[in-house]
Amino acid sequence: MTAAANTGFSTDWLRQREPFDLAARSQSLATGFQGALRSQAGGALRIVDLASGSGANFRALAPLLGTDQEWRLVDHDPLLLAAQRTEITKWASGHGWHCHDHKGALAIHAGPARWLVRGQQLDLASDLEDIDLASCDGLVTTAFLDLVSAAWLDRLSALLARTRRPLLATLTVDGRRTWFPGRPADHLLADAFLAHQGGDKGFGPSLGVRATPYLAASLATAGYQNSTQASDWHIGHEHRDMLLGMAKEAAAVAAEADPSSEPAVSSWLADRSTDICQGLLSLQVGHLDLLAVPIR
Ligand SMILES: C[S@@+](CC[C@H](N)C(=O)[O-])C[C@H]1O[C@@H](n2cnc3c(N)ncnc32)[C@H](O)[C@@H]1O
Repeated sequence: MTAAANTGFSTDWLRQREPFDLAARSQSLATGFQGALRSQAGGALRIVDLASGSGANFRALAPLLGTDQEWRLVDHDPLLLAAQRTEITKWASGHGWHCHDHKGALAIHAGPARWLVRGQQLDLASDLEDIDLASCDGLVTTAFLDLVSAAWLDRLSALLARTRRPLLATLTVDGRRTWFPGRPADHLLADAFLAHQGGDKGFGPSLGVRATPYLAASLATAGYQNSTQASDWHIGHEHRDMLLGMAKEAAAVAAEADPSSEPAVSSWLADRSTDICQGLLSLQVGHLDLLAVPIR
């Protein structure tokens, strides 16, 4: 997870990152997830998305799964929940798919498939166990697990151990972040970024870059087979707004972590802004995707 976002995630930021997420996702793990899904009710596939924001995970996965689907998009932020309908409708009409209201859910007709999407407001820190995993066929989450604590991942693991549903958890930050070309002061920003990853984002001290291996180990003990793959962002020099946003956010995090580093950080940001304007800078941000499938 990136962007100075302790207090919330704007629709604009989620919209800006969506194409980078889409390009980075592991296609083979998504296909593996599709293969592991079984419709328990014998009809549409029922998927729950944890911390769904404005619905990017649905937009990435629904076309791949193809068939009839019913999605529950869970988030605590009322503004993002409200944005889901607008963002999904805009996306669907871009594909020529018809949307309409169906008993309070959004129905999308994508060729022969019908996808039903419902938002659900829930504080996942306190109320994770309110999610009725037994009446869904698979669980997904994206750009979320680096926010949570080990204790919260233990709760997620316990839920999955009971319900035996496949999980696809994509785009969890793994700590790798490389600016090209490198500058000596990059390490200042990298150290602060790693320290920031361990902060409390509402779930207790977050595991940050250690979240994916931690959850994979816990699910292995619970009888799950796990696969992980890198899903890195490659932000090329042509994406100036994104690069500038990432550089400013990195500088803000570093200056906050150590106010005495402010002059060095400001000078780094000035140099990086020049690099960006001259089309010289690119950035790689490391993420991991995890597919966990119950084997017994
Ligand atoms: C980086 S955003 C990712 C959103 C979305 N998955 C995406 O990729 O566009 C993290 C999401 O976690 C949600 N979130 C953070 N804390 C939460 C909580 N306690 N309960 C539910 N959702 C939460 C935020 O509202 C936000 O939508």
